[in-house]
Amino acid sequence: MSLLVTGGAGFIGSNFVLEWLSREQEPIVVLDKLTYAGNPENLASVHGDPRFTFVRGDIGDRPFVADLLQKHEVRAVLNFAAESHVDRSIHGPGEFIHTNVVGTFELLEAVRGYWSALEEPAKQAFRFLHVSTDEVYGSLGPEDPAFTEKHQFQPNSPYSASKAASDHLVRAYHHTYGLPVLTTNCSNNYGPFHFPEKLIPLMILNALNGKPLPVYGDGKNVRDWLYVTDHCSAIRRVLQAGRLGETYNVGGRNEMTNLEVVQKLCAILDELRPLEHGTSYWDQVHFVKDRPGHDRRYAIDASLIEHELGWLPAETFETGIRKTIEWYLAHPDWIQGVVSGAYREWVVKQYGA
Ligand code: NAD
Ligand code: TYD
Repeated sequence: MSLLVTGGAGFIGSNFVLEWLSREQEPIVVLDKLTYAGNPENLASVHGDPRFTFVRGDIGDRPFVADLLQKHEVRAVLNFAAESHVDRSIHGPGEFIHTNVVGTFELLEAVRGYWSALEEPAKQAFRFLHVSTDEVYGSLGPEDPAFTEKHQFQPNSPYSASKAASDHLVRAYHHTYGLPVLTTNCSNNYGPFHFPEKLIPLMILNALNGKPLPVYGDGKNVRDWLYVTDHCSAIRRVLQAGRLGETYNVGGRNEMTNLEVVQKLCAILDELRPLEHGTSYWDQVHFVKDRPGHDRRYAIDASLIEHELGWLPAETFETGIRKTIEWYLAHPDWIQGVVSGAYREWVVKQYGA
């Protein structure tokens, strides 16, 4: 028996795979299309491990996925595969519909076929865990209570709308076909192997390269940050003990404005990699044009997973951001590998020359 991890060469998926293999004996098969966001280097430390198999392929390729499920006697599918960047979804929503909606549908169909044919007790023990985001709930006002699992879906970007659609499909496959599904809706992650198009790794790289730190709008948008390995521990716990058909919100009760995040990050860089003449990285902050439809505030109420499954994060923002910055400072080769020509083209498209 093994786990099938889709999108396992991306940021959160690769962290999940590395953590799993450092704790468990059960093998993992990674299925990843290796889009711009997928990086086999993230998994370099487990290449050659007999418990690890990497397969390049598309979640939307139903016969291919059906074969993989059979061949590896998969007992659970963890679906991390997605297009995940809001700004890219604004420039080109098509790929988001293709992968996040149609791809998830094809994956669900492959899994339904495989699961239906399983014998007991394997059939009852099977799980499909869908990894989703708090962005499906839309945006909060400053005084609104944090998102619970009962909050209405009000997605505002093509990214969040495509994730919301995939969440609905997963839910429907449980209610209609009895597929044993679990869904997690997590807040913003940060940590090692984060592709530098997202706020935190972009700011670290730009700071170190003496480039502007582009803050959208007034910088007062609020995100609820969670260190990536805490997200991974929540997923392991939901896989182990989550109630079938349930969704679990995951977050670290750590709301911060973007300016607060950048301030903290600059202060740690000032300490770990001081600039000449005693100036601060904070001087590189530039306010730039806001993102269209920019959600003002996300906040997760994680009471359900905390009380029902006893999950709690291990890191605070203080400890997590320090670990993250130290990781980027210690991995110049990884950074060199991801800032390719395609990455530079994206930066020019999004921020101008
Ligand atoms: P990512 O963009 O870093 O990685 C996505 C991975 O999926 C890449 O390896 C990519 O190659 C792969 N992929 C894309 N299309 C595919 C396809 N059709 N078939 C197979 N593989 C494909 O994303 P991430 O930040 O690691 O996010 C993983 C999941 O977690 C996503 O579903 C995302 O919506 C969700 N999520 C992310 C965050 C966050 O802060 N990053 C927060 C909550 C939820
Ligand atoms: P991001 O990391 O793209 O995650 P998401 O949009 O999914 O929350 O952005 C986090 C916040 O940082 C969001 O409010 C947008 C803002 N942001 C900037 O201010 N500048 C940037 O260059 C980027 C990429 C994001």
